Amino acid sequence: MQEVRGVIARAKGAPVEVATILVPAPGPGEAVVRIQACGVCHTDLHYRQGGINDDFPFLLGHEAAGIVEEVGDGVTDVAPGDYVVLNWRAVCGNCRACRRGRPWYCFATHNATQPMTLTDGTTLSPALGIGAFIEKTLVHAGQCTKVDPAARPAAAGLLGCGVMAGIGAAVNTGGVGRGDSVAVIGCGGVGDGAIAGARLAGAAKIIAVDTDPRKLDWARGFGATHTVNAKESDPVEAIRALTDGFGADVVIEAVGRPETYKQAFYARDLAGTVVLVGVPTPDMTLELPLLDVFGRGGALKSSWYGDCLPSRDFPLLIDLYRQGRLDLDAFVTEEIALDGVEDAFARMHSGDVLRSVVLL
Ligand SMILES: NC(=O)c1ccc[n+]([C@@H]2O[C@H](COP(=O)([O-])OP(=O)(O)OC[C@H]3O[C@@H](n4cnc5c(N)ncnc54)[C@H](O)[C@@H]3O)[C@@H](O)[C@H]2O)c1
Ligand SMILES: [Zn+2]
Ligand SMILES: [Zn+2]
Repeated sequence: MQEVRGVIARAKGAPVEVATILVPAPGPGEAVVRIQACGVCHTDLHYRQGGINDDFPFLLGHEAAGIVEEVGDGVTDVAPGDYVVLNWRAVCGNCRACRRGRPWYCFATHNATQPMTLTDGTTLSPALGIGAFIEKTLVHAGQCTKVDPAARPAAAGLLGCGVMAGIGAAVNTGGVGRGDSVAVIGCGGVGDGAIAGARLAGAAKIIAVDTDPRKLDWARGFGATHTVNAKESDPVEAIRALTDGFGADVVIEAVGRPETYKQAFYARDLAGTVVLVGVPTPDMTLELPLLDVFGRGGALKSSWYGDCLPSRDFPLLIDLYRQGRLDLDAFVTEEIALDGVEDAFARMHSGDVLRSVVLL
């Protein structure tokens, strides 16, 4: 058992706080990882708002890189000293998805079985089964994906969630290919990941939509060929106008709201694909004419974690980063300390940052 500092959300909507947390020694199949960097994702804010579930208190943070410190019995894939990016898809290999050769849909992913607790014994719910705004965390060893140690933690860790979710939403879920037209609604870390992914996949036209002009500037840097300020013009009309009146082949919704989902739905070409990667809250509902769902054809898909397979995708994307083909550094707007997460939420809200990254 070790005593470390970590960031918790104690109650719905309350500001997050730094607390002392007890981390058990790794049991069978588990690993303790010394966290070096962890990005602040919008999903952390969803947790603290009670938008994911009510299992407070949460240990926040889930897009992280670090060094394996200790492993439990039976762990052979990683060893102390390994440089890893943490993932929330440690596939089981045995569920019906894994057995059908589609492990990125794994329905029984692994997490650590022992709890991390507050000093009074209260069990913490780690965000996405990770919990990485903390000096050291306990995870399942399968949640540790080894990558090239030459990639700096602040950049590499971002593959652990938002950037991977975005890239994968375009490349894996959306199946973006050479010559496609793509529109991305919402250009935060996830949306810009989708833009970068669409560029890697050879999309010919990449239209970025956001309500914030600073976000649109950043989006251009990641590969957007056109931008639409949703406060100034109607995104559906603008996307159609930029695609010969037809709409885009693939539209990626990276906000997580019914109104932006509807825009995505109507901004795609006939037989086009909509990918929902933004996370809605339980109160949200959607109403669409069923005839439009039928008549427009195509595919309406959701993307969890960009349908990624960490063991396949993280090392590959780190290689592209090292070759200068994927600018992970450009996602890092600022580096902050453990006690800066609440302020980072505010800056995320006001659009001042793409990613704040906690350095430990
Ligand atoms: N599916 C997944 O696996 C996965 C993984 C990580 C994050 N997410 C979700 O993706 C979403 C985006 O995450 P993020 O970290 O990039 O958040 P973010 O807050 O950094 O980005 C959201 C962006 O949407 C823009 N936006 C807000 N309202 C808009 C509107 N009406 N029209 C156009 N743009 C608008 C904001 O200006 C901002 O740039 C969140 O819902 C998050 O929970 C999903
Ligand atoms: Zn499985
Ligand atoms: Zn996330």
